[in-house]
Amino acid sequence: MSELLTDVDHVGIAVRDLAAAEEEYRRAFGVEPVHRERVEDQGVEEVLFKVGSSYIQLLAATGPDTPVGKFLERRGEGIHHIGYRVEDVAAVLRSLRAEGIPLIDELPRPGSRGATVAFVHPKGFRGVLVELVQEPADDGRGARP
Ligand code: CO
Repeated sequence: MSELLTDVDHVGIAVRDLAAAEEEYRRAFGVEPVHRERVEDQGVEEVLFKVGSSYIQLLAATGPDTPVGKFLERRGEGIHHIGYRVEDVAAVLRSLRAEGIPLIDELPRPGSRGATVAFVHPKGFRGVLVELVQEPADDGRGARP
């Protein structure tokens, strides 16, 4: 067991048409969204499906000049990032920094669902954009939306 990673929090998938993608997941897997959110500072609109203790996160860009908008333009639809759940984002950032792993966020910041997050550069993890996710402090276990 890793002392830093506690779970896979979510898989973030970039899509052009959020409503159409949501409907595909609903029809294919019989899943219903447990959360929707527009995160202005990340330029995304997201829909979350819960699967076990993790989420599938469908992500649409709020505009072409956002990170997800540029990703869609450059690479098309597909897996955009992986969210790893951690107990303490700040502590994991310190540990990664000490290992010389390039960070996108030097400090933790607010994410969706009231979580605290930080992004780590894909150069550090074989081309995979990694998001560290720390649950809201008051959530206990399984009480999230
Ligand atoms: Co994410």
